[in-house]
Amino acid sequence: MAATSTSTLPVILLLSGSLRAGSTNEAVLRTAQAVAPAVAVEAVLYDGLAGLPHFNPDDDTDPLPPSVAGLRAAIEGAAGVLVCTPEYAGTLPGSFKNLLDWTVGGTEICDKPVAWVNAAAPGRGQGAEATLRTVLGYTGADIVEPACVRIAVGRDMVGADGIVAEPGVRRQLGEVLGLLADRAATPE
Ligand SMILES: Cc1cc2nc3c(=O)[nH]c(=O)nc-3n(C[C@H](O)[C@H](O)[C@H](O)COP(=O)(O)O)c2cc1C
Repeated sequence: MAATSTSTLPVILLLSGSLRAGSTNEAVLRTAQAVAPAVAVEAVLYDGLAGLPHFNPDDDTDPLPPSVAGLRAAIEGAAGVLVCTPEYAGTLPGSFKNLLDWTVGGTEICDKPVAWVNAAAPGRGQGAEATLRTVLGYTGADIVEPACVRIAVGRDMVGADGIVAEPGVRRQLGEVLGLLADRAATPE
């Protein structure tokens, strides 16, 4: 998986925090991928979460584990990053926090426009959002506040094709991608 592309469209890297088959968060990102061409964005879904080793500072040296090098290259090659993650036990899933830990030792995410979609039901998922803000802030990522949105998506809204058909959800996801691309084009 690489975030590099031969197209001239800005690439937004999509990071799901869920490893679950049939993940709602991944479905949200697949929906973003489906609407991306309409907003002149190429959205690339990162699929390496399960293959990352447990973070160990001793391994954060050259040569990096290949999967970690792949992650960092994907971030480097992207104009922006969009996260959609479940909340586990009041915070991020450990596997996704592990991914973020691997970004700390590199410079790729620094100043990179990033945002997240909280797809949880109203009133839920705030712990995951708070942790994202803390960790991404620590990495020096450029958090694009207007693109950090709540779009409640239940499992019943995901079609057999693995994406969401509801026009309002698709419109909001298009807006989020557009905001990330705009920030990449004109950094603050
Ligand atoms: C172990 C575990 C812990 C969870 N903890 C929380 C939680 O603290 N807060 C919350 O809002 N949802 C919690 N949930 C619910 C998940 O966030 C929810 O099922 C989510 O839709 C899963 O996302 P996915 O479909 O993308 O895998 C938890 C689920 C599991 C399996």
